Amino acid sequence: MKRIILAVTGASGMLYAKRLFDCLQPRTEVHVILSDHGAEVLHIETGLKPSYFEKENVTVYRNSRMNVSLASGSWKSDGMVVCPATMGTVGRIAAGISSSLIERVADVVLKEKGKLIVVPRETPMSAIHLKNLLTLDQAGALVLPANPGFYHNPQTVEEVADFIVARILDHLGVEHRLLSPYEPEPRRRHV
Ligand SMILES: Cc1cc2nc3c(=O)[nH]c(=O)nc-3n(C[C@H](O)[C@H](O)[C@H](O)COP(=O)(O)O)c2cc1C
Repeated sequence: MKRIILAVTGASGMLYAKRLFDCLQPRTEVHVILSDHGAEVLHIETGLKPSYFEKENVTVYRNSRMNVSLASGSWKSDGMVVCPATMGTVGRIAAGISSSLIERVADVVLKEKGKLIVVPRETPMSAIHLKNLLTLDQAGALVLPANPGFYHNPQTVEEVADFIVARILDHLGVEHRLLSPYEPEPRRRHV
């Protein structure tokens, strides 16, 4: 069973985090870290509480706690996803600040040459945001923005979110059936 870390920070786009968690939870060992603002925005956008993540095969951590095994390079995972990622967390990871568990674990994953997937959500982006994202890419992270495509003709907001979730799962090597591979067929609806 793969071991995946899911960090949820206070950006808009909690549906991505929920759909991703729902796909990971039965198939992988999941370690969830929620920032305080992550918990707040989760409630605003979905009505869910942090207790939503308390399920089988899942460990939930307080972001203020540092004395846990995943904060050490000796603890191995198959990948960490920051989804959604705020510009604040992106900046702090890019600067190596490590003042919270999310920042520390991301720092550890990068130094150990592990897999870090960052799903930033902000628009428009300033030069500061873009430089920080470039820094993360250059340090070995995969920057996978929450920019869904629409060519698969989504009918629901969940299908829109699944476009991004499917790409994340592909990069983690976790099997899914969210989207079939793209085929250029004329399936267009005209409005
Ligand atoms: C409803 C709501 C939506 C937000 N959306 C975003 C966003 O999309 N991107 C972003 O960078 N910050 C967003 N913020 C601001 C962050 O929550 C704020 O910068 C916070 O300090 C981030 O802390 P964290 O990175 O520790 O989660 C939002 C805040 C609220 C209340």
